[in-house]
Amino acid sequence: MMEKYMYLLIIILSVCGIFGIASHSPVALDVLLDALERLEYRGYDSAGVAYLDDGLSVTKRSGDIAHLRETLSGVDDRFRFGIAHTRWSTHGPPTDVNAHPHTDAAGRVAVVHNGIVENHDSLRRDLRATGVEFTSETDSEVVPHLLARHLDRGLGPREAFAEMVGRLHGSYAICALVEGCDELLVARRESPLAIGMDDATHYVASDVPALLEHTRDVAYLRDGQRAAVSPGRYRAWEAGGEAVSLDTDTIEWTVEQTEKGGFQHFLLKEIDEQPEVIRRALRDRVTADGALTLEQVNVDPKPDVVHLVGSGTSYHACLYGAYLFRKMGLSAFAHRASEYGTVAPPVTEGDKELVVGVSQSGETADILSALDRANEHGRPTLVLTNVLGSTAIRKADNAYMIQAGPEVSVAATKTFTADLVALNLLAEYFTTQNHRRLLQTFSALPAWIRDTIDDSDAPALAERYVDADAVFYLGHGLGRPIALEGALKLKEISYKHSEGFGAGELKHGPLALLTDNTPVFALLTGDAVQTGRIRQNVSEAAARGVPLIAVVPDDISPPAECDHVLTLPDVPPSVEPILANVHLQLFAYHVADRLGRSVDRPRHLAKSVTVQ
Ligand code: M6R
Repeated sequence: MMEKYMYLLIIILSVCGIFGIASHSPVALDVLLDALERLEYRGYDSAGVAYLDDGLSVTKRSGDIAHLRETLSGVDDRFRFGIAHTRWSTHGPPTDVNAHPHTDAAGRVAVVHNGIVENHDSLRRDLRATGVEFTSETDSEVVPHLLARHLDRGLGPREAFAEMVGRLHGSYAICALVEGCDELLVARRESPLAIGMDDATHYVASDVPALLEHTRDVAYLRDGQRAAVSPGRYRAWEAGGEAVSLDTDTIEWTVEQTEKGGFQHFLLKEIDEQPEVIRRALRDRVTADGALTLEQVNVDPKPDVVHLVGSGTSYHACLYGAYLFRKMGLSAFAHRASEYGTVAPPVTEGDKELVVGVSQSGETADILSALDRANEHGRPTLVLTNVLGSTAIRKADNAYMIQAGPEVSVAATKTFTADLVALNLLAEYFTTQNHRRLLQTFSALPAWIRDTIDDSDAPALAERYVDADAVFYLGHGLGRPIALEGALKLKEISYKHSEGFGAGELKHGPLALLTDNTPVFALLTGDAVQTGRIRQNVSEAAARGVPLIAVVPDDISPPAECDHVLTLPDVPPSVEPILANVHLQLFAYHVADRLGRSVDRPRHLAKSVTVQ
């Protein structure tokens, strides 16, 4: 078989971005590098490409894609089959050798992989026993060696690929090149993989931003499925070998939406897009005569107990949602997705329960396993997500698309706002008949957000406090998740220590952290009782000599002890936190920018965390 095929197998593997092209006519390296730049939010500690011209060419480098581009400058190769990878390390540090693609010992095979091969230790042992030497510390490197071994046994590329995939435990989106075989071989399990189609050329990608400049027609591979992708067509089959036809979706996102459009960073652009995000969020949810319609969400019967599950920023949206639902008379609980699988909540006989997964990407591994767990226990599930075709949509009974448009910056901003709007609409839909007041409020929200963005003093405060030792955020009720989110935003993009607290918690420990160089943001949002409580907590902080920044609606007087005030328009209490959050987003952005941080791609982070 070795004589029959000169196998060139390149497999791309990890939370990473994968791209592949099978082109009718020769293309240049920029096709791979441009696609990687559009996937860079998925990982950016090392990157690489592999393609077939006269033989297999592989180039991979630690560092970002600009570094890889520099390394390849002056290389004018043309090819019809190529694969590319941008990595977020899970096994082994971000070095040249650990970067993808990985190859077999003879350099006949190259592979890219997103996910984790859980049984890589035992596979390594088996392969070593047959004389294979490993060059990297990654779990992924077992893939090309395993594939090459099956090719050496005389199997054809598709059969060898199928045998190899059958040996893997864990999660994977894999794309492999095999010399002598005019196909990209791909497989997925718990890591996303889409096939982009046009007449003459087909593509493979972890996410649609990499496909948009080539095509809008996309088919999503499902768990366990494999495919062979060639110029102008693809074949897909189930793990058992039965052929399968995939549905084609048409993507509505535009290339412009995934570009910076004159802003210095995607994060700032995405903050600025929030008024439009809300208009869009409402457009499909409100009928011509101004009533709320969520029939397409299709939750029937309406629940009387809601469990909201999310991670990071999405978990903060869950906290907001749970508080809001409870205020409206529903029993509601927020859970961190990473913990939901450990201790799932008790089921009460007779309760109409609903598990709501909140996930921008719809690919966060902890959310997917929480949905699996809810499904195993027979609970109805709904997912709030931004990404059409995401795995969470397929796992949940119903999906609510938040329609925020592509969010490229790793730090979530506009999708958090879109989640809060969606949760308000859901809470209303589940609990009341007359939604007109809420809809009136929300139709005015875009203009309030615009004013907040344009008039915020947050940039000046960022300049004033850029050298702070740490920053603390206090909120109460619906303001508490915003305090947590403000702190998360600041720490993830500026690397500055920051914490959010329920305001009443301050005296139970955190007070010990306060100094004259630890500014405290106090969110005076909510009703009079809540703001009254926060005033008391503000006094406790002020007595310790901290710089105090009050975020206050302009119809109430700020606490006398405050050094600075960020004002909110006079709006209903439930939307005050949404506006307060805009100030905190801007503060975080301007601190990070002043510190020269990699705002859109903070160190060590990735946009969607597809490993547990
Ligand atoms: O895609 P998801 O909403 O499921 O992602 C959850 C978190 O990983 C995400 O919100 C993360 O915390 C962001 N970096 C926050 O800015």
